[in-house]
Amino acid sequence: MSENLLEVTGLQKHFPITKGLFKRQVGAVRAVDGIDLAVRAGETLGVVGESGCGKSTAGRLFTRILEPTGGRITFEGRDVSHLSTAALRPFRRDVQMIFQDPYSSLNPRHTVGSIISAPLQIQKIPTPQGTKKAVQELLELVGLNPEHYNRYPHEFSGGQRQRIGIARALALRPKLIVADEPVSALDVSIQAQVVNLLDDLQSEFDLTYVFIAHDLSVVRHISDRVAVMYLGKVVEIAERDALYASPRHPYTVALMSAVPVPDPSRRDRAQRNRVLLTGDVPSPINPPSGCRFRTRCWKAQEICATEEPPLVPRAGDPASHQTACHFPVVEGEAVQGRSPAGASA
Ligand SMILES: Nc1ncnc2c1ncn2[C@@H]1O[C@H](COP(=O)(O)OP(=O)(O)O)[C@@H](O)[C@H]1O
Ligand code: SF4
Ligand SMILES: [Mg+2]
Repeated sequence: MSENLLEVTGLQKHFPITKGLFKRQVGAVRAVDGIDLAVRAGETLGVVGESGCGKSTAGRLFTRILEPTGGRITFEGRDVSHLSTAALRPFRRDVQMIFQDPYSSLNPRHTVGSIISAPLQIQKIPTPQGTKKAVQELLELVGLNPEHYNRYPHEFSGGQRQRIGIARALALRPKLIVADEPVSALDVSIQAQVVNLLDDLQSEFDLTYVFIAHDLSVVRHISDRVAVMYLGKVVEIAERDALYASPRHPYTVALMSAVPVPDPSRRDRAQRNRVLLTGDVPSPINPPSGCRFRTRCWKAQEICATEEPPLVPRAGDPASHQTACHFPVVEGEAVQGRSPAGASA
């Protein structure tokens, strides 16, 4: 058996834009536009990038909540790209998703007990100890009071609601959990607790995680590897320590310099080296030619507009560290926070 649990190749999701009475397709939002990556059994793969770059769409493809427009998704070597709802049933047990917003992802009219036991019922999983007992065990696992199975979501705090979401995801004892910004809606003080809980559950149940976040500081602690996404593409992927020690893609460098530096003695230098990400992410309806980051990149040259840089290891980097950039940043290079010269959409 391959040690990759999930593999995607050339993965695409284009949302059609239609016009008029007859819903003629006039374009498409290229939310995910050709990504190749593998999720190894037992690891946590962090996925980061600004809002709108396609992280949630990628997560929904990995879990087959969405069907891809193009490319392939395999889970434990089996192609699941276009399986029907019925054929997806075993996959649904193995792969679960945790959502960003614990407020809207839980039905306010259902008790915690029925929310957490719903996956067991849908999958018709027998619970020899009884459903109530199964729910109570799950509540205990995620650090909630097992006697609270009859309460409603509004009776819990944000952090507790996210624990309910985690309990629901765990009910089927999945192999892979895709967590889409699971702590972004929570107070900073609560974020670490939820991340630590996910960490503990991972070792206890041999879980594999894809952990989506919009900034690099959140995924640093939990990830083994990190993939950086920009406008529907993976622009850099590496082992966690390699990525934080020597980011190669200008976008990664920019994202990293946006992370607050807690140590005051280093803050000055960090401020000076701060790269400002100017402008918004361009529209995924009509992405820039060549390298998609070129309209915001201070290193852009002519070739960047004509040739799309492949995601490959760059000079001196191990095979596991891949960067989609013609002019990757080298260690010690001066990085300037100015808008690109001569680059336009
Ligand atoms: N169902 C949809 N229909 C049309 N466009 C969508 C849909 N879902 C997402 N998009 C668009 O796809 C792009 C990527 O969105 P998303 O995957 O949510 O990004 P992220 O999670 O990184 O913020 C955005 O431009 C978004 O507006
Ligand atoms: S390929 Fe060119 S535009 Fe794209 S990130 Fe690298 S230097 Fe910048
Ligand atoms: Mg999202």
